[in-house]
Amino acid sequence: MKKSRYLTGITTTGTPHLGNYVGAIRPAIEASQNPTIESYYFLADYHAIIKCHEPEKIQQSTKEIACTWLALGLDTENSFFYRQSDIPEIQELSWILTCMTAKGLMNRAHAYKGAVQENEEAGSPDPDKGITMGLFSYPVLMTADILIFNGEKIPVGKDQVQHVEMARDIAQRFNHHFGEIFTLPEAVVPDQAVLKGLDGRKMSKSYGNTIPLFDTPKKLQKSINKIKTNLLEPGEPKDIDDSTLYEIWCAFANEEKKQYMRDQYAAGIAWGQAKKELFALINEEIAEARERYDELMQAPKKVESILLAGAEKAREQSRPLLENVRQAIGIRGLQ
Ligand code: TRP
Repeated sequence: MKKSRYLTGITTTGTPHLGNYVGAIRPAIEASQNPTIESYYFLADYHAIIKCHEPEKIQQSTKEIACTWLALGLDTENSFFYRQSDIPEIQELSWILTCMTAKGLMNRAHAYKGAVQENEEAGSPDPDKGITMGLFSYPVLMTADILIFNGEKIPVGKDQVQHVEMARDIAQRFNHHFGEIFTLPEAVVPDQAVLKGLDGRKMSKSYGNTIPLFDTPKKLQKSINKIKTNLLEPGEPKDIDDSTLYEIWCAFANEEKKQYMRDQYAAGIAWGQAKKELFALINEEIAEARERYDELMQAPKKVESILLAGAEKAREQSRPLLENVRQAIGIRGLQ
């Protein structure tokens, strides 16, 4: 049977949090164990420098993300796990695709439009103030990430769907002009709702409302204690609708445990108690991985060699693909 090829990138800014875990990492690792799926997961460090110009942060985040995925059991024998910057073919393809991409298409990208809108709202005379070419053209880099390995299914959050559609457009245009080289990718958006953060909005680094995945147990409990609840006293029945605590519970609970917590809410469980139980539930799922994470974080050389081996394996595909592309566009040896 032909396997479908899943490919996704993780931008290396920030520390993995529960929202990343539930929304992206856990499903991706499950998918990597599915024999009908071939997975390509990479650390998108050249995407990280679009917004972050602090070298230490980029390096630290790369390390944390790599260790997180490995600690959670990503099987690097049966998947491709690599760092974007270790695949030079991506950059070369990115330029080639840049030359096939309409500027007007990039003008419509949400990330760029959002930045322009912010400038306009701030009354800036220059709508492009502070916007780099990196931000403007990053959908092209993302396209290169995808096409270099002929990614088919691209798991992304809703905000990235437009970029995957752009990748498809660019691939189509290239194929039309130079012959069928690229597979046309499509986005897959997890149907599960996004995890809420401490304040009830989507859990996101930009809102500062995250619960880090691999903090010490003590810190994890502390973060959980900060989840917004209401003023209902112990003994007063509580409503599961609109309860961030209950929603996070559900991201870790099986049906039986979901029912258990609904009963507890109805019986008026104290918020403090519910938070203790939530800690125990999450901790049970991640405690072993946390130990492996701590070990890996202390063994950066080992992690580095896993990443380099992953890149070597991936480049067996990116090299010949890029060679085909060069041939197709006329960047060829003379004869
Ligand atoms: N831009 C994506 C994000 O911010 C990350 C990413 C980079 C990506 N390259 C990719 C996702 C290629 C899917 C495919 O989430």
